[in-house]
Amino acid sequence: MSPFRRVLNWLDERLEYDDLVALARKKTVPLHRLSYWYFLGGITLFLFVIQVLTGILLLLYYRPGAEAFESVQYIMTQVQFGWLIRSIHSWSANLMIFTAFAHMFSVLFLKAYRKPRELTWVSGVVLLFLVMGFGFSGYLLPWNTLAFFATKVGTEITGQVPVIGKPMMIFLRGGEEVTGATLTRFFGFHVAVLPGVATVLLSIHLLLVQRQGISVPPKLEMEWRANPAEKREMKFFPNFALRELMAWYTALGVLGALAAIFPWNLGVKADPFVPAPAGIKPEWYFLFMFQTLKLIPSKVWFIDGEVLGVLAFGLVGLLWLLLPFFESDEPAHMKQWITGFAVFALVYVTGMSVYGHLAK
Ligand code: HEM
Repeated sequence: MSPFRRVLNWLDERLEYDDLVALARKKTVPLHRLSYWYFLGGITLFLFVIQVLTGILLLLYYRPGAEAFESVQYIMTQVQFGWLIRSIHSWSANLMIFTAFAHMFSVLFLKAYRKPRELTWVSGVVLLFLVMGFGFSGYLLPWNTLAFFATKVGTEITGQVPVIGKPMMIFLRGGEEVTGATLTRFFGFHVAVLPGVATVLLSIHLLLVQRQGISVPPKLEMEWRANPAEKREMKFFPNFALRELMAWYTALGVLGALAAIFPWNLGVKADPFVPAPAGIKPEWYFLFMFQTLKLIPSKVWFIDGEVLGVLAFGLVGLLWLLLPFFESDEPAHMKQWITGFAVFALVYVTGMSVYGHLAK
């Protein structure tokens, strides 16, 4: 037997190729008027891959440390297509956070978080936190004024958490202040820690989706059970996969157009000794929290307003993570509160983000 054949056989035994083919043949996607929401997870995955690829390219020239700003300037002006790669990386980061949020709300409204998919939901929420962590750590890397002060404010807010806040802030900053040590640390989080953890979680997330198949909204499932002739579904391979490919192609088109028409700005190099510019704001995906904290009075009864706000967000975050476990075996009408809560959350996050954007 040729060595090549032997390698193939070896792989075949370990990958249980037949099982994979059987799984691919069996996999179907339910067809109904909201089926197009099933594309969102895949689009988020596609943008994640774009992030990894463009991130690796940026690493060829980016230098964390005293020359961070100059190295990004070099990428933008000297490296062939460097400006395009950086723009794609920045635009794709923002689009990915948007599609991850949209994917989360869609699985919430389609009730896909319910038993047996609780762990898919939990791994998804942690992924969303990680994706926001990617955004926060990446924002500082060009070391420009806006990034510097946004990081200062963001880490200061972490410092408000009682007991563990201060040590957490010092851990994030690598000292009392935002300095070169913070940049080195954020670089490490951004290119090593977060990608490692995210890859593991993403694998778990996708494995769970493969094992459990795509959910059918509960109401429709009941209708289909009562009347099996009405059941409609599409084969995943090749029918749905080809449609997903078209969705990726469209996403790539939108991304390329945005990056080419609106190249990402670099701004002015950070100077820690000048006062913060007026109206400093975080990236859009943190605005709803930032604006809420700004609206809370400085003292609520005897508690510091900001501390109260940070604790409340921590608690809501935890509730959100464990959401599927709160409705396990209740009758159907009791379950409506989660949909109500989801509508409130969506309106609140959107409203506060717009308000935060328009506020001075
Ligand atoms: C990096 C971020 C994420 C990626 C790349 C990702 C990817 C995917 C993919 C490819 C699917 C299968 C297709 C689909 O139903 O859309 C899926 C399903 C799912 N995801 Fe995500 N996801 C991410 C974040 C999230 C978040 C934030 C949540 C919710 C908190 C979540 C919860 C779920 C659930 C419950 C399903 C099963 C849907 C069903 O069976 O109908 N995911 N995800």
